[in-house]
Amino acid sequence: MLIPDPKVIVALDMVDCTTVYRFVDRLDPGSCRLKVGKELFTAAGPQLVDQLCNKGYEIFLDLKFHDIPNTVKKAVYAASKLGIWMLNVHASGGSEMLSAAREGIDMAGVNRPFLIAVSVLTSMSDNSLRETGISCSVADQVNRLTKLALTTGLDGMVCSAQEAVTLRQNFGDTPILVTPGIRPEGSQQDDQRRIMTPREAMDAGASYLVIGRPITQHPDPSAGLDDINQSLV
Ligand code: C5P
Repeated sequence: MLIPDPKVIVALDMVDCTTVYRFVDRLDPGSCRLKVGKELFTAAGPQLVDQLCNKGYEIFLDLKFHDIPNTVKKAVYAASKLGIWMLNVHASGGSEMLSAAREGIDMAGVNRPFLIAVSVLTSMSDNSLRETGISCSVADQVNRLTKLALTTGLDGMVCSAQEAVTLRQNFGDTPILVTPGIRPEGSQQDDQRRIMTPREAMDAGASYLVIGRPITQHPDPSAGLDDINQSLV
């Protein structure tokens, strides 16, 4: 199924290249994008990204860079040269680090990837934030870091579908919002706590949906993906 600007980003939460290639050969690069995260990238490296790009897939490289500005700038530039579609950094690295990331991505020229930021990890609670010396609520911190990232010129944020509603109210239609925690009607919740269906998440303001197990563990991944895409039409 060829879809202009597919909304589903399939999370490749696997560490073995053979499994990855066998899996992606069952999908169509015209109907989804792929997310390569820290585990897979650490195990398989840039070569895997290159192979997936050669198969026609657009890649979200989910490495969440967070370091001193100069290192992040160089890492972002190095990542952008892999021919990826999108990558991310931690907004909590601060405005200098975010500006450096932006410079790194600009060095890639007109065909640069999208650069988005993570605000507060959804594994963090108000309590765990407090342990790190941050006394405001998760919601306030998400808002603060989103403002910082967007005013520094980043293209958008990773956020929960619940957060997307508030972020759209506060920051308008332009930012790209990428949301995990998605479960199609009738599929298993797994370890996700607050879930939305693909349709609900798009209605809540998401631009793209990160979906892993409902597709990777589906007996027919391509059919599972087609059902999700149909629900978005
Ligand atoms: O299998 P599932 O759909 O739960 O996978 C979701 C993907 O999104 C995983 O790669 C997970 O690490 C990632 N993710 C998440 N929640 C976040 C950020 C990323 O589930 N807040």
